[in-house]
Amino acid sequence: VTDAAGAAGLPLVPTAARVMITSRDFGEYLAMFGLEPERLRGARVLDCPGGASDFTAAVWEHGGRAVAADPAYRSPPAALARLVLADLADGARHVPAAAAGYDFSWTGGREAYLRRRAAAARRFLADYAGSPGRYVAACLPSLPFRGQVFSLALVPNLLFTYAHLYGPAWHRAAIAELARVACEVRIHPVTDAGGRVYRELAPLRRELAAGGIATRLVEAGYRLHPGRQWTLVCRPATAGR
Ligand SMILES: C[S@@+](CC[C@H](N)C(=O)[O-])C[C@H]1O[C@@H](n2cnc3c(N)ncnc32)[C@H](O)[C@@H]1O
Repeated sequence: VTDAAGAAGLPLVPTAARVMITSRDFGEYLAMFGLEPERLRGARVLDCPGGASDFTAAVWEHGGRAVAADPAYRSPPAALARLVLADLADGARHVPAAAAGYDFSWTGGREAYLRRRAAAARRFLADYAGSPGRYVAACLPSLPFRGQVFSLALVPNLLFTYAHLYGPAWHRAAIAELARVACEVRIHPVTDAGGRVYRELAPLRRELAAGGIATRLVEAGYRLHPGRQWTLVCRPATAGR
């Protein structure tokens, strides 16, 4: 599915503002995006940003075809493993400080959740080394894929979350690009790093609608964070029904 333009000349994410490479697992993705495993059978799915999630590996096991895209995939396996394991340790160290933002009862407690993250990272690293064709170096708002080659694009924990790094124009361009390559785009969460609904969400949705991308908010069954959780579902008018 990679375009002839390839992934050359990718803009770098500034090091000082580097986004953590996290490893939410397949089960978390299903909850965040309101998906049943059956929906993935035969589907062509894009996970962007894939980070160190085991989602792509799991989709293949469930009879679907997934590709993950992330600027971190410019790194060869050994270098990426060092980054992923460092971010995993860093994340675990910061959990006590961030505990108020989490409801670990959803996942059997804090230690169980950290074990899930570590297991997903290990599974990702094995798949990244063993099936490199599934992992494409790419940086939003530009993707090296042909139009509507994916039936579904999942966008976990980048848009809105990092609103302090990426502005409204970037968000608009990123969603338009995702809607170019996929018939449906699901984005989770719709909150910023402080847990507040993204301030520009309403004008953004109006602009997307004017550009032919219909959006709706659906409540997610994901309860890792206290309060109601929402997923933004986007469908370009050009997508087949
Ligand atoms: C918080 S992690 C999310 C990973 C995984 N989806 C999860 O939920 O655990 C954010 C990821 O976004 C990637 N990233 C940062 N800027 C990006 C961009 N402009 N386009 C695509 N991915 C980006 C980072 O490399 C990092 O792996």
